[in-house]
Amino acid sequence: MCAEHIAVAIDGPAASGKSTVAKTLAKRLGLIMVNTGAMYRAVAWATIQKGVNPAEASDVVKMLGEVEFRCGVENNLSTVLVDGVDPGEELRQDAVNGRVSKVAAIPEVRDLLVRMQREYLQLGSVVMEGRDIGSVVFPHTPFKMYIDASEEVRRKRREAEGIIDDPAARDKEDSNRKSSPLVVAEGAVVIDSSEMGIEEVVEAALEVLKERGAPQ
Ligand code: DC
Repeated sequence: MCAEHIAVAIDGPAASGKSTVAKTLAKRLGLIMVNTGAMYRAVAWATIQKGVNPAEASDVVKMLGEVEFRCGVENNLSTVLVDGVDPGEELRQDAVNGRVSKVAAIPEVRDLLVRMQREYLQLGSVVMEGRDIGSVVFPHTPFKMYIDASEEVRRKRREAEGIIDDPAARDKEDSNRKSSPLVVAEGAVVIDSSEMGIEEVVEAALEVLKERGAPQ
């Protein structure tokens, strides 16, 4: 980690509200917000473009050598380009939801993306959200949170967004995989957002950062 740059790690299951919290926190603190789910989604999206079966790990690994994934920042938000193309809203389509846990379970995919995620710290301080940020990407940061919510609340949030997704099924795959499963990282503060509004969760997160000595 760059001495002067800090990493705030926000992990949690799908539809726990962690993206909104991470975005709001980053804006409030003037930090770069990095959405690592979008990076795994970009790999899943690429398998669709290239006609690669996401369940065939060796084919996905071969694709990694043939397709260029480039991460950047625009307006303090992370971006990802696949062979120079921004997949945009297509990253949230059903076909991607159905494939992303499969590609995210492949160690070579994780190695590549974790390396890119760590490089963000050279650009500035970050709020990074995902599943393994506090456990694998930045295990030494003191600024770690795990945003949780009940299964029912999460399903309802997805329905309200009009997204066809089964967060519980995805979480099961993400939690049971061998490579960097979804876990509460050692030292992370768990915030259950089931009964809280976004503003309340953000306040709770800011309190954690303050207690742990983050620059204000
Ligand atoms: O946060 P999201 O729902 O956009 O993430 C999409 C998928 O990517 C999720 O099902 C698991 C995977 N993922 C991961 O394995 N590790 C991360 N750090 C972020 C996401």
